[in-house]
Amino acid sequence: MLDLHCHILPGVDDGAKSLDVSLAMARFYAADGVTHVVATPHCNRSWRLLRAEVVPRVAQLNEAIAAADIPLTVLPGSEIQIVNSTAYRAEYEAGLYCHLGDRPAFTLLEFNWVARNYPADAVALVRWLRDRGTTPIIAHPERHEFFVHEPIRLRKLVDAGAWVQITVDSLLGVNGPMSREAGEAMLRTYPDAVLASDAHSMRRCSGLKVGFVLVNDWLGPDREQQLRANADRVLTAMTAPG
Ligand SMILES: [Fe+2]
Repeated sequence: MLDLHCHILPGVDDGAKSLDVSLAMARFYAADGVTHVVATPHCNRSWRLLRAEVVPRVAQLNEAIAAADIPLTVLPGSEIQIVNSTAYRAEYEAGLYCHLGDRPAFTLLEFNWVARNYPADAVALVRWLRDRGTTPIIAHPERHEFFVHEPIRLRKLVDAGAWVQITVDSLLGVNGPMSREAGEAMLRTYPDAVLASDAHSMRRCSGLKVGFVLVNDWLGPDREQQLRANADRVLTAMTAPG
């Protein structure tokens, strides 16, 4: 089982504050049945985690996890916030970003929380990425008011080839009623969706199992299996030899 969005890398952003917290999160994940997590530290205007920094830090974290005898593998990644798509394209082409698993097949994209920072050419950017063999996964759209109140925005991104990542805490109601309802609605609407924890600490660490239980209750076992299969597709793209 894969969690492709979490802030388990210690001391780099607003996620795990120390290696001890990272190891506690790793133990929690392993007990939850998670085998692989992608460390997705922020790459935004406050924290700018690029692949040159993420990849060696993930290797160090994996060494510590193995030394602690925790059965979990951490893969490199980042949560890349897009405000200026021209700058994004230049940095993408320069190879600065850490996409999921440090491979080009999938990347985790976040939009700014303020609607006026939403890029006018977001749909074109999704197409541009797909043309380059990269499928963008939109981080937690159910938490963004402009996606919830204007569903056409997300519909256009998905029609252009984006996937959506729904956060388990949203389904649990932790992020408020808007995100809970929108998360469920988006899971009903968009087949190309994945669940993730977006864990930042032990206090903000839902795991995945409870999310799949909710999906099974609300949307049925077929939809649960579809979501698990989507995550497996991402895992295979990140880990297959070659
Ligand atoms: Fe995140």
